[in-house]
Amino acid sequence: MKFFVDTAEVQEIRELAATGLVDGVTTNPSLIAKSGRKMAEVIAEICAITPGPVSAEVTATDYAGMLAEGRYLRDIAKNVAVKVPLTEAGLHTCRTLANEKTQVNVTLCFSANQALLAAKAGAAYVSPFVGRLDDIGQDGMAVIADIVQIYRNYPHLKTEVLVASIRHPMHLLTSAKLGAQVATLPPAVIRQLFKHPLTDRGLDAFLADWKKTGQSIL
Ligand code: E4P
Repeated sequence: MKFFVDTAEVQEIRELAATGLVDGVTTNPSLIAKSGRKMAEVIAEICAITPGPVSAEVTATDYAGMLAEGRYLRDIAKNVAVKVPLTEAGLHTCRTLANEKTQVNVTLCFSANQALLAAKAGAAYVSPFVGRLDDIGQDGMAVIADIVQIYRNYPHLKTEVLVASIRHPMHLLTSAKLGAQVATLPPAVIRQLFKHPLTDRGLDAFLADWKKTGQSIL
């Protein structure tokens, strides 16, 4: 399973990429706004940190505008994946960019039928937002289960399921059990994954016992 980091904070990405656990990065207009920086500049910097796909989202809402922005964004670096919203114009843009061999991440997906459309439009990734579905009392993970099942039924569809809007480690665990290919994780959730109280307690005990021996390995 691939792990993407869901942030536009370059320093966070640098630190997490150094662990070797990061396969790519996702951003969105809200995350770019939070960074307080210019989109093209941040995307170029992130693309230089990781060789994996870096999603950069268009902000136009019409086909011509999205296509022009998508072409501009993909020229920033060879590992840019252009992100378009799951609208009619977004999927039209996706098809055109995919025909031009550009990787497209179709975002703001909230149903399995939408994900089927994204796959038919040639998306490299579809991003279903599990947290936002949970927020309105729907079952985000059930949508992931449906999408994974549908894509498996049609092996010619090459779109990868990129689980987005992940809020906690259980979202990741269930995504992995279902066989989603990618999860994009906020840095705080990645850091939660390392933690277990028995790991901390066990390490404290080992180190206390080791200290009593008076030895050092080096
Ligand atoms: C990533 O591609 C999405 O934009 C992101 O995961 C959305 O997360 P949020 O619902 O926490 O804003």
